[in-house]
Amino acid sequence: MKTHIPLLILIVLLIQCSPPASEAPPIERYRPLAHFTPQKNWINDPNGLVYYEGEYHLFYQYNPYGTTWGHMSWGHAVSTDLIHWEHLPIALEEYLDPMTRDSTMIFSGTAVVDVNNTSGLCQSNDCLIAIYTSNLHRDNEGLRQNQSLAYSNDKGRTWKRYEKNPILDIQRKDFRDPKVFWYEPQEKWVLALVVPDQFTVQLYESKNLLKWELMSEFGKVGDTLRIWECPDLFELPIQGQPGKSKWVLSLSGGHPAGPTFVGMQYFIGDFDGKNFISDQTTPLYLDYGKDFYAGIIFNNVKDRAVMMGWINNWTYANQIPTESWRGAFSLPRELALLETLDGWRLSQQPVAEYTALRGDKISELNSPNTKSFELELEISEGSGIQLFKSAREQTTIGYQDGELYLDRTKSGRVDFQKDFASRESVEIKPRTPSIAVRVIVDQSIIELISMDGLYSITDQVFPIQENSSAEIFGTVKVRNAWRLNPIIR
Ligand code: FRU
Repeated sequence: MKTHIPLLILIVLLIQCSPPASEAPPIERYRPLAHFTPQKNWINDPNGLVYYEGEYHLFYQYNPYGTTWGHMSWGHAVSTDLIHWEHLPIALEEYLDPMTRDSTMIFSGTAVVDVNNTSGLCQSNDCLIAIYTSNLHRDNEGLRQNQSLAYSNDKGRTWKRYEKNPILDIQRKDFRDPKVFWYEPQEKWVLALVVPDQFTVQLYESKNLLKWELMSEFGKVGDTLRIWECPDLFELPIQGQPGKSKWVLSLSGGHPAGPTFVGMQYFIGDFDGKNFISDQTTPLYLDYGKDFYAGIIFNNVKDRAVMMGWINNWTYANQIPTESWRGAFSLPRELALLETLDGWRLSQQPVAEYTALRGDKISELNSPNTKSFELELEISEGSGIQLFKSAREQTTIGYQDGELYLDRTKSGRVDFQKDFASRESVEIKPRTPSIAVRVIVDQSIIELISMDGLYSITDQVFPIQENSSAEIFGTVKVRNAWRLNPIIR
């Protein structure tokens, strides 16, 4: 087998934790540096992603009281560059109905900039409006889901719930996850949300964000093995074909590995302001790992579509072995549409700003005292790399039989849930003798991106051994290797 020079030098990235600098607090085991995590407690879906007055807002499903799902509220963080985040106080909190004492949780939703004060709720020309699902429940039993509105006149720092909520109610127990965007050609707001157990996305229109009319429904196609959640609908230019664009309807639900897991799928088609017509009925999947869910794109970002997703899977989300916090978000990914032999496909790459996190280059065997790094590899068939490798553990990434794979069956802690020990793979088309793979490793998160972003695999791993290395097998060229720096300011 041919070996390359950089290989000989690199082979082992000594991923050994050095003692933290005396003034720095110890880094919790598994807590990523380059991915967003809450300071403490549970998170799931990103919510209300929006850019407004120089800030990107990241709201998210948050349990203020514990490290498992419950008491859902909207946590909040802001960033000026999409990469470094500042934690802010909770934006919208679960509340009790003063009369019935029933609780209403703040489920997933959207935020928009109401540019011309169409709602009449802004104190100036514009303000932030959030539209979310109110989840009414009693003794943990869901009673009703309807859509509610809240508004903020101080850049998202404080919120008021609209007095006339709900703004959209079809008297259903499961009816959720609104995403709203401005549809310029008809100067109106469009809202997409799901009837989860009907595998249906409903589209509504409004002039003022308060009164909504049903326009159309799309569904019962693609992967319907798990309920549908968190839809998004957006237009993307086709790369390399100026003036041409298509619409993408993305949602969370089925997984390429079958109904044991949840994942994200998408449809490519056209939207005329009323109906979404898909070009295909068979599912296309966004990510082939087990840990990418509930992704939505930022509103009010010009000229690019940027998605963040939740790095977890409902199958084991409540059991992953982290301590004071549970759940993380993916790097923000820029989406594009590429023409392939099979037709148009979504591609994903970490946003350009992400490269600011790259620190020192890793060139020596024993230089990086870190578990957060990025590698640019060229992997030949039958070859790959073993990460977090110690006597009995490793996470293997490789290219075999025309497939890119990530095997976490022996990655460390795998027995906290019976389905966690898994091997993920995706067929690379067209099959080539070697593939370029970006490997982003961040303590307990691995994001793989290959073939201009057409294939991605996102997975969590929880190594037990503190002292581990990275070892290449077969023919792999290491084009680049960097440490990654932390994102919390
Ligand atoms: C998706 C989801 C949404 C819901 C939220 C509740 O992960 O189930 O459908 O709004 O999480 O936390």
